[in-house]
Amino acid sequence: MTLSSTSSTARPARNDATEHPAYAKVQHLIPTVEWATFVEDIDAINRLKAEQDAVILAHNYMTPEVFHAVADIGGDSLALAREAQNVDAGTILLAGVHFMAETAKLLNPSKRVLLPDLRSGCSLAESITPADIAELRRQHPGAPVVTYVNTSAAVKAASDICCTSGNAVEIIKSLGVPEVIMVPDQYLARNIAAQTDVRVITHPGACEVHERFTPTDITQIRDSHPGVTVLAHPECPPEVVAASDHSGSTAQMQSYVEEQQPRRVALITECSMSDNVAANNPDVEFIRPCNLCPHMKRNSLKAIRHALETGRHEITVDAELAAPARRAIERMLEVK
Ligand code: 13P
Ligand code: SF4
Repeated sequence: MTLSSTSSTARPARNDATEHPAYAKVQHLIPTVEWATFVEDIDAINRLKAEQDAVILAHNYMTPEVFHAVADIGGDSLALAREAQNVDAGTILLAGVHFMAETAKLLNPSKRVLLPDLRSGCSLAESITPADIAELRRQHPGAPVVTYVNTSAAVKAASDICCTSGNAVEIIKSLGVPEVIMVPDQYLARNIAAQTDVRVITHPGACEVHERFTPTDITQIRDSHPGVTVLAHPECPPEVVAASDHSGSTAQMQSYVEEQQPRRVALITECSMSDNVAANNPDVEFIRPCNLCPHMKRNSLKAIRHALETGRHEITVDAELAAPARRAIERMLEVK
């Protein structure tokens, strides 16, 4: 999704923060008094972007003031990878987590890639090492390794092909083999296996946000909100996906809401997702049983402003790892 952020340079001075052009989009999500505390940083960030020839790529889990007021492009992991390839500007600031910034650097290596906070990790990326992949290959000779993009460049470099939650089924099917190793998310792997005839060998990684949802949560949502449509991210345990109406990546959830306009919907995923989809779908009622990702939430306006002011933290990838890691991502992008 391409987002239109606003430039402070073209705007007359004003006293009322609610007159800010970006406020219209988020006025139902952010109280006026809170919005007023954001405006100075929003204007500074938009000024810095212009001065530094920078664009902000923002994951769907950013808070609404980041997603709707300073981001240039928003989307799921797959969209952000594709968009990173096409950025012309000199600097990409990744409002997301470390593996996303690394992916952007791999796909557009001549650009300066900034991540506001180096602590923005991911429980999935931390769950696996290249040595784990070597051991899985030893145990399952000949099975290709399909690696979720939520991994380090070193793990991607040890893999055959990457996938995201938005294309995993197509990636697995494209290989034309009876058995694959799919790492590191055990739940994503099991949810994808249920949609193919391919035998999927898993690794015991999990997303700390999605693994906390339970089938009981879904039952309670349905009991309290009759008629609700439940959409679950495929990083949720399979029992949660089975209790839901549909499953898909964050972009697929967004498309579902935009196209189907359900009367009530519950997005079983990170908290900011509902806010960001609600901004464009005022007639849909959002039930919000969410869990916070502490890593995504490190991308505050202040952190983003500081990153543009100081040029920190610049993401680089070891030259030896870059070529094989890039190949695994590019193979994915060739399929879907
Ligand atoms: P997608 O946006 O690709 O669905 O990924 C969700 C996620 O948890 C990213 O860290
Ligand atoms: Fe990682 Fe889960 Fe946070 Fe996404 S939501 S960055 S998968 S911990």
